[in-house]
Amino acid sequence: MTSNTDTVYLNGKFLPQDQAFVPVMDRGFVFGDGVYEVIPVYGGRLFRLAEHLRRLDDSLAGIRLNNPMSHDQWAGILNRIVNENGAGEQSVYLQLTRGHAPRDHGFPQDTQATVFISSSPLKPVAEALLKDGVAAISLEDIRWKHCHIKAIALLPNILLRQQAIEAGAQEAILIRDGLITEGAASNLFIVKDNVIKTPAKGPFLLPGITRDLILELAAANNIQYQEGSFGLNELQQADEIWLSSSTKEVLPVTRLDDKAVGNGQPGPAWQQIRRLYQDYKQALIAGEVE
Ligand code: PDD
Repeated sequence: MTSNTDTVYLNGKFLPQDQAFVPVMDRGFVFGDGVYEVIPVYGGRLFRLAEHLRRLDDSLAGIRLNNPMSHDQWAGILNRIVNENGAGEQSVYLQLTRGHAPRDHGFPQDTQATVFISSSPLKPVAEALLKDGVAAISLEDIRWKHCHIKAIALLPNILLRQQAIEAGAQEAILIRDGLITEGAASNLFIVKDNVIKTPAKGPFLLPGITRDLILELAAANNIQYQEGSFGLNELQQADEIWLSSSTKEVLPVTRLDDKAVGNGQPGPAWQQIRRLYQDYKQALIAGEVE
């Protein structure tokens, strides 16, 4: 194991990552009983922090775990982590679990949540992916019915992503009852006849912060979009397919199940949204937006 001296936060303390430990009976370790957030940082500024903290509130409510801190307290700790790790571009990971207790499926009484925050460098998305796009495969969505909760229990997502990797693709696009939901770790957009379409929010997909921003940017720039239910056939006939996430921003999918998407190149609607997204990031770095 290589040593890691990045500063992390664990249960009230700031300390080097290689000195941070949790008890083996932590319910995150034993049951995957917890929730998380991934927050990108650009120019030392946390991207859409208020939205991430609101989604964290919803995830905590979804697993019936009290939020131990106010949004101001979270902001203070998160900003300290960003600064202690050199500001710039980072990907901040925040996780809460239901604490440690003897193993029992029922909730323990009087257990303190475990709170952990770490940060890693946020690498720019590889130029080759932006130039050529990525490949995806469609797979059955084998996850549970509470996918709006950002739960740390990600075994189905991991298995689906690995299946995509072993098929030579970067992402699995998930299909539940014939309808597209999202990627294994990303939200999904299709473009048909210049209209952006994305599955509506609900229990079968994560309400992505990047997804919301894309729709905001579309609305502000008079680009037509629809939120709704879309079938596998619409995915297969799309002019463009995109994936969105905090760490990958907006990526064009140019191959689906070994067939070209549209003309096999990143499309014009993606180019436009990518530009708007980059402009938004610059405005954030300049302190003009949150
Ligand atoms: N995942 N859907 C799923 C299942 C995800 O895991 C993610 C992000 C998204 C996109 O959400 P956002 O735009 O808020 O990042 C959608 C993170 C990045 C992860 O697990 O690392």
